[in-house]
Amino acid sequence: MESIKIAVLGAGTVAGGTFRVLTRNQEEIARRAGRAIEITLVGARDPAKARAVFGPGVAIQSDLFAVVEHPDIEIVLELIGGETLARELVLRAIAAGKHVVTANKALLAHHGNEIFAAAQAKGVMVAFEAAVGGGIPIIKALREGLTANRLSWLAGIINGTSNFVLSAMRSEGKSFAMALAEAKRLGYAEADPSFDIDGIDAAHKLSILAAIAFGIPVQFHACYTEGIGALELRDMQAAEQLGYRIKLLGIARRAERGIELRVHPTLIPSRRLMASVEGVTNAILIQGDAVGATLYCGAGAGAEPTASAVVADLVDVTRLHTADPENRVPHLAFRLDALVSTPILSIDDVETSYYLRLRVLDRPGVLADVTRILADASISIGAFLQHEPEENQDQTDIILLTHRALEWRVRAAIAAIEELDSVLGSAVLIRLEELA
Ligand code: NDP
Ligand code: HSE
Repeated sequence: MESIKIAVLGAGTVAGGTFRVLTRNQEEIARRAGRAIEITLVGARDPAKARAVFGPGVAIQSDLFAVVEHPDIEIVLELIGGETLARELVLRAIAAGKHVVTANKALLAHHGNEIFAAAQAKGVMVAFEAAVGGGIPIIKALREGLTANRLSWLAGIINGTSNFVLSAMRSEGKSFAMALAEAKRLGYAEADPSFDIDGIDAAHKLSILAAIAFGIPVQFHACYTEGIGALELRDMQAAEQLGYRIKLLGIARRAERGIELRVHPTLIPSRRLMASVEGVTNAILIQGDAVGATLYCGAGAGAEPTASAVVADLVDVTRLHTADPENRVPHLAFRLDALVSTPILSIDDVETSYYLRLRVLDRPGVLADVTRILADASISIGAFLQHEPEENQDQTDIILLTHRALEWRVRAAIAAIEELDSVLGSAVLIRLEELA
């Protein structure tokens, strides 16, 4: 049978990895897909760079719109990133009747609802396994493998760069800047690395996962997002002393009055498997009513791990493109007309536990004042840590772990605590999840 012809947009890290994997494993991939998968056309603004990546056997064009409409092409592989040009190109490809494979979570977080609707109307597929979790087949697992379950929550390390930076700071003593530079060099970071550090990339991915898990539209703008930029080494060390490790987590949880959708640094118990997930590795824990908890773990970024997911999508589309569109797995697991509009909760209405660090004057009664304010707000304390003041210092840090409480209550209590004469500066608040 004739090969299926792919056009690739972009000639960067993931494009290069995909070309290498497809070339190296072409015989086995063809045996799985039923026919060969061949990159015949590349759209790139720097043709010399694209030639160096793809070699002499492919045609290269700088007009990306001509590429997505080329009559020989059946699948467009979008690997340029960003959400403006990528949206136009993907919609144009869909309008031209092409199937699309993309690794672009920013695109789907912002425009996924529009893109999936356009694809459904045209009867084409948009596959995006590489958009979440790098090489981990998490979209397939969540959308198909867990389809029997009512899912109650998922929590994951879903940004490789930030996990790499936190691991290098904690275990190798590297500076934030050095660790981030290394992640960039290895091809893990986004074109704008602030997306990784500020939690935006994780929020893109979480909004996609939550849509698939709960049958809701993709709602990136409703996701609460906090990154790792303000994290201090002393909090990472104090967390360790208390039996916890700090990870940047994406959490989506079905609560009584809506869905929690949040990305933030989180203390998790050191004994949990997820606490030992280091470097660029990602891990996603999903709780279903029938199966219980399942954990998915693997390389979260990098050229060939991401290519592994991209090529899996290319094989899926090759196998299914002649199938009746009505019988394909819906893009977001639920049929588009069956999505529900469950509200996303404000962070104020989230209920979780907290790590609080307060800088205080080392004098009698301080702790009693603090605990009285917490007790008045019905916030109960689970653990407490105080270090000896350094020599000739009249100040010290006290650290409290609370039991579960509503965030607005904790914020109000902290505001009152910060008013105390004996409390200096602002409290540090980091959320804590037992992941039980
Ligand atoms: P790179 O920056 O390495 O490559 C992007 C490519 O797209 C480059 O060839 C670049 O051209 C080209 N490009 C960017 N903007 C334009 C434009 N306006 N017009 C024409 N070409 C353009 O990115 P990655 O390969 O790392 O990432 C690609 C996608 O995959 C992104 O959506 C990313 O989020 C996603 N992804 C990346 C992972 C990773 O580990 N790197 C993992 C999972 C997903 P030029 O070379 O001229 O700059
Ligand atoms: N920049 C992303 C990360 C790439 O570090 O996780 C994978 O999506």
